Amino acid sequence: MVVTAKPLTAHANIAILGAGAIGQLMYHKLGLTGQSGQAEECNDVVLIGRQPHTQQRTLQFTDSNGRTHHTTATILNRDDTHLANINLLIVCVKAYQVENALLPLLSKLTPNCHVVLLHNGLVPHLAVSAALKHYPGLGLSLGTTSQAALKINQWHIKHTGFGVTQLGHYCGTPLSAELKLRLQVLHSDNQPLEWYQPVLPILWQKLAINAVINPLSALNKCANGQLAAEKYQPQIKAIINELVDVAKCDGIELAPSQLLTRVKQVIALTSANFSSMYQDVAHHRATEIDYINGYICQQARRYNLAVPINQSLVAKIVALSQQ
Ligand code: PAF
Repeated sequence: MVVTAKPLTAHANIAILGAGAIGQLMYHKLGLTGQSGQAEECNDVVLIGRQPHTQQRTLQFTDSNGRTHHTTATILNRDDTHLANINLLIVCVKAYQVENALLPLLSKLTPNCHVVLLHNGLVPHLAVSAALKHYPGLGLSLGTTSQAALKINQWHIKHTGFGVTQLGHYCGTPLSAELKLRLQVLHSDNQPLEWYQPVLPILWQKLAINAVINPLSALNKCANGQLAAEKYQPQIKAIINELVDVAKCDGIELAPSQLLTRVKQVIALTSANFSSMYQDVAHHRATEIDYINGYICQQARRYNLAVPINQSLVAKIVALSQQ
């Protein structure tokens, strides 16, 4: 089905920064409504990309039933004056791109815009929350998703990973009830959308998922599901135990057995998926290792803790990326 987007108007008030696999997935999910999963006009959702001019593109989305939807999307240039209409900005760039991509946009957004960071790993929220002090009307929520998508080509993605999207307010003006309601559409395909306060424990839980699945799938060149094999279990437990000790020093209490269960669930839910780190290594792109296992090592140094398993994973991924 071909859906033509209306020309960009003041209705365009949700923007997704980053048109990679997760950015496009969020775009399509926000544009799909109801149980039928029919594509609707995403005329209140735009993407923000790196191209020199605002443009319209036909995007393809192969959903969980194998149906392919075609949508014409507006991709705003980062200087477009329509950024001033955006009141919800969902940031889907990689952790290492957040600061450079987002901070120059803050002064161009609606003064009460709400920003949601949705990347793997931890760290960028510190710089973003510091920058937000100069924009008192803005608000920041942090989130994480176990949903995943595979790029068939630059503008065609396939929905390959299913599961929960978890969000929570971090600082500044809270998300309005209206926008919270608008985000419920992320739940329309029966995947859970959960709100947490405080949000940091949930992000540590997601850090554990990524600290296990991402480097192990990249190093073993396998789909997530293969990590359920017995031979990986001792390493998985060791990664989690090290993370739990570090999180405790950071004031976050996590139960190793619950984390292990959650990691195993995500391995099963995303079994056909090739993790983002697997894909980054395969395509010779930078990885998020410094924001995942690297962050665990960085915090461990602060607390004089030994985290040899996480350290060796960082070293191996760095070596693999240089090949
Ligand atoms: O980075 C990823 O690939 C995803 O966060 C996840 C949940 C591990 C699924 O592949």
